[in-house]
Amino acid sequence: MKMNLSFFALVFLLFFIHSSSAAKCQTSDRSALLQFKNTFVSDPSCSGSPPMVASWGETDDCCSWDGVECSNQTGNVIGLNLAGGCLYGSIDSNNSLFRLVHLQTLILADNNFNLSPIPSGIGQLSDLRQLDLGNSRFFGPIPSAISRLSKLENLRFSRVNISSAVPDFLANMSSLMSLSLGDCELNGNFPQKIFHLPNLQLLIIPYNPNLSGTFPEFNFNSSLQRIWVEQSSFHGEIPSSIENLKSLTSLKLGNCSFSGTVPDSLGNITGLQELELHLNNFSGRIPSSLERLTEMNRVFLSYNEFSDATLSWVGKQKKLVFLGLSGIRLGGTLMPSLGNLTNIEQLLLGENELTGEIPSWIGNFAMLTDLHLYGNKLTGSIPKSLSQLTNLKHLYLQYNYLNGTVELSMFLKLENLTELHLTANDLAVIDDQVGSQNVTLPKFNLLGLGSCNLTHIPTFLENQNELEVLELGQNNIQGQIPKWMWSMSRESLKVLNLSHNALTGVEEPRDALPWVNLYVLDLSNNKLRESLPILPAICKLSSLVALDLSSNLMSGVLPHCIGNFSSLDIMNFRQNLLHGTVPDSFRIGSKLRFLDFSQNQLEGQVPRSLANCKILEIIDLSDNQFTDGFPYWIGTLPMLRLLILRSNHFHGKIEEPETNTEFPMLRIVDFSYNNFSGNLPLRYITNSKGMETFNTTASTYRNTFVTFSFDYVWALEFFYSTTITIKGNQRDYSRIQEVFTSIDLSSNKFEGEISNVVENLQGLQSLNLSHNMLTGPIPPSMKNMARLESLDLSHNQLSGQIPQQLSQLNFLAIFNVSYNNLSGPIPLGNQFNNVDNSSYIGNVGLCGDPLSKKCGDLKPPSSDSDEGEDEGSFHIGWKTVLIGYGCGMLVGMIGGNFILARKQDWFAKTFKIQMLKSWEDSR
Ligand SMILES: *[C@@H]1O[C@H](CO)[C@@H](O)[C@H](O)[C@H]1NC(C)=O
Ligand SMILES: *[C@@H]1O[C@H](CO)[C@@H](O)[C@H](O)[C@H]1NC(C)=O
Ligand SMILES: *[C@@H]1O[C@H](CO)[C@@H](O)[C@H](O)[C@H]1NC(C)=O
Ligand SMILES: *[C@@H]1O[C@H](CO)[C@@H](O)[C@H](O)[C@H]1NC(C)=O
Ligand SMILES: *[C@@H]1O[C@H](CO)[C@@H](O)[C@H](O)[C@H]1NC(C)=O
Ligand SMILES: *[C@@H]1O[C@H](CO)[C@@H](O)[C@H](O)[C@H]1NC(C)=O
Ligand SMILES: *[C@@H]1O[C@H](CO)[C@@H](O)[C@H](O)[C@H]1NC(C)=O
Repeated sequence: MKMNLSFFALVFLLFFIHSSSAAKCQTSDRSALLQFKNTFVSDPSCSGSPPMVASWGETDDCCSWDGVECSNQTGNVIGLNLAGGCLYGSIDSNNSLFRLVHLQTLILADNNFNLSPIPSGIGQLSDLRQLDLGNSRFFGPIPSAISRLSKLENLRFSRVNISSAVPDFLANMSSLMSLSLGDCELNGNFPQKIFHLPNLQLLIIPYNPNLSGTFPEFNFNSSLQRIWVEQSSFHGEIPSSIENLKSLTSLKLGNCSFSGTVPDSLGNITGLQELELHLNNFSGRIPSSLERLTEMNRVFLSYNEFSDATLSWVGKQKKLVFLGLSGIRLGGTLMPSLGNLTNIEQLLLGENELTGEIPSWIGNFAMLTDLHLYGNKLTGSIPKSLSQLTNLKHLYLQYNYLNGTVELSMFLKLENLTELHLTANDLAVIDDQVGSQNVTLPKFNLLGLGSCNLTHIPTFLENQNELEVLELGQNNIQGQIPKWMWSMSRESLKVLNLSHNALTGVEEPRDALPWVNLYVLDLSNNKLRESLPILPAICKLSSLVALDLSSNLMSGVLPHCIGNFSSLDIMNFRQNLLHGTVPDSFRIGSKLRFLDFSQNQLEGQVPRSLANCKILEIIDLSDNQFTDGFPYWIGTLPMLRLLILRSNHFHGKIEEPETNTEFPMLRIVDFSYNNFSGNLPLRYITNSKGMETFNTTASTYRNTFVTFSFDYVWALEFFYSTTITIKGNQRDYSRIQEVFTSIDLSSNKFEGEISNVVENLQGLQSLNLSHNMLTGPIPPSMKNMARLESLDLSHNQLSGQIPQQLSQLNFLAIFNVSYNNLSGPIPLGNQFNNVDNSSYIGNVGLCGDPLSKKCGDLKPPSSDSDEGEDEGSFHIGWKTVLIGYGCGMLVGMIGGNFILARKQDWFAKTFKIQMLKSWEDSR
């Protein structure tokens, strides 16, 4: 009995000891923890919550404290998890934390260590298996002391600003199973050996734009499951040996610089679920072996340089939730390949070359939230079945050849639809008055109904209060802008396009426009008559970036406030009936880059205050009645690229300033049809390097003018266009690229000789000096203007011979020297073989082909007139281009192949900065 009792006592005692060892901590650990606690105060960004360590010490047993874990066997503290613990302070290497040498787990993620360095004391915690300092506002390199942690399995520093290279020693940490260094500002080259760590399963290093690296040949014995390197500078090819990664489930390489073909062998990784290769330079075909990867739920291949891409490999996919194939020149039809995608939520096929119709069975994809088919060649009607897609949020069908009529009510049933874009098809949208019905209408953010044959502004818009983008251009909207519009989406509206309609005014003029946050207002090409009060009202829109009122019937004078805009980039009043002077009110700090007052009846001087608009690139004042001497201050505008003063009453000599540093960027000059006199100001206006060299590598895409973003990224693309027609030779310079250069000084009273300055203008493409009083010879050095395509010297008093050297001008398509006093033989060969004889008439002394007068023959010249010749003129245009994103995903919304053409330059770079970092690594 006694035996038994003591036996039970022993058992009880053992149990007691055992359970108390689970609950009772070592005194040394306890004091280390209490000292550690004193390192911190409450994180100011935690809105008053005390740090998680605040309650430590209230009970004796440190094993029961928040975030502390002890060993059941030894009682040692083996784990500390203070994630999101509102800790604020810095941990130096003497911190008592590093006396907890039995720690196996240390999680300090989501705290605020106030940009202190990662403490090297961590190296003393030699039992550590898991170290997580993610998003904790440590700063600086990974200390080499980490290399002593030979048992480390999980290492996570994501969102810590490391600002240095990935240390090589990580490649020796053979226990490592997961490495998370996403968004760490890493730079340098990623040590390739890390890919070969035998136990590494998760390699998570995305969002390090300056981290460079390439893939190794992959080994058979790899454990890799996830490779995430998106938005970094990884480059090179995907090696065919990637098929050796038998455990791979997720490969994310988006927005890097990979190239080469996508290896066929990818189709052997049968467990692959996520494949993201978008925004790279991959070329060749999309391997058909991908059809074997039937576990895939997310495939993102958009914006690559694939050729012959089709959807055929998609047919067997049944688990796909996300399929992004925009901008890859995808051809073929949607049927039947998409038929099995019954789980699809996001189907992004914009900016491709898809043909055929939209299959009506897309209406069965019940989970679909995003459907992008914009910028294809789809025909037929919009299937009615789309109205079954109750989860649909974003529907982009713009820029196709869809036709037929569409009732607006079909979309207004979809209560989650926030973005609907149908612009630029052959659709007729019928506003079937659903606004009056008692249904919950969707709240649109974006509505694009451009060129939809609308005759009025859809009435349901009256109750929309979250619109950001409303595009109703190119319809037949007649009459006045209804007054109810004034209460629509007051706070939210950013982009309003009512251009190319037949609007005559506003129903109820107000002295302010309601949309206080408007960026873009395009009312161009209407019949708007009022100048007042709409203009002063527009002046109050302080966030306006682009204002286009061109091609209307607006009369009256410009209000003083037009110089007040603080963010305006584009101001276009072309082709109205404005008169009076331009107010001299442009302010210092103005952001104006594009100013177009052409084709009005403006008079007086060019306002001197325009000199305050230091970043002006384009000024067009043509076809007005400005009366002014040459506005010399214009030469000081450092960015000016295009200056058009055509058809005004500018007069007087244009003297060259002594220190000639003016017009450093000028590329297109048109002073024609004025009364300028004196010598040609060629030296003065040709400082630009662009006129002296022809640089084909100059960015041809810089026409993209303004970018700004709210929920979408916008670019206002701008372009010049002109048609030069001289004697039947028509040349269309629409969308002239930045490299185009031209000088037109015709129809003035310039006199004197053409100076030798011209020999420096090796980049010039068009020179028109006609209809002046120039004398002297045509300089032979003009042969150096190697890019010249058009040369018009007609109607002057030039004398001497046409230099034979001009036959070296290989690009010359238009040449006119008619009505001068030239003599001698016409040059032979090259382009001169194509010049018509009317280009030479009115010169008594010229002879040889193509004139009938043979050299030596002295017949009088014919007296043909060449009146009616059209010398062409520039037009400048711009359009808004949306390249937006919503929910971290590329949206793209364009005319033509905007994004395709620009992807690798401007676009990709923009997105490197702008794309949302919407990712989660495992913790
Ligand atoms: C310690 O013991 C408790 C209760 O017996 C158990 O739930 C816990 O998992 C054990 N912890 C360790 C680290 O073994
Ligand atoms: C990969 O697939 C190809 C067929 O596409 C096959 O010939 C090859 O043997 C496969 N490789 C492996 C490692 O399974
Ligand atoms: C859809 O899946 C079925 C069964 O796997 C298959 O027979 C059919 O060919 C697939 N459809 C297409 C268009 O590939
Ligand atoms: C709209 O979205 C909300 C939230 O995502 C969801 O709860 C609701 O069911 C959706 N409505 C429809 C008609 O699908
Ligand atoms: C739509 O276009 C097709 C040709 O692509 C034509 O056959 C059809 O009649 C058009 N439908 C309507 C409604 O205009
Ligand atoms: C609209 O619906 C609301 C609630 O569902 C109801 O109270 C109201 O009478 C309805 N109005 C009309 C005009 O049907
Ligand atoms: C466009 O509208 C006009 C006038 O409202 C109408 O006559 C014409 O039939 C419409 N076009 C189409 C394709 O429905």
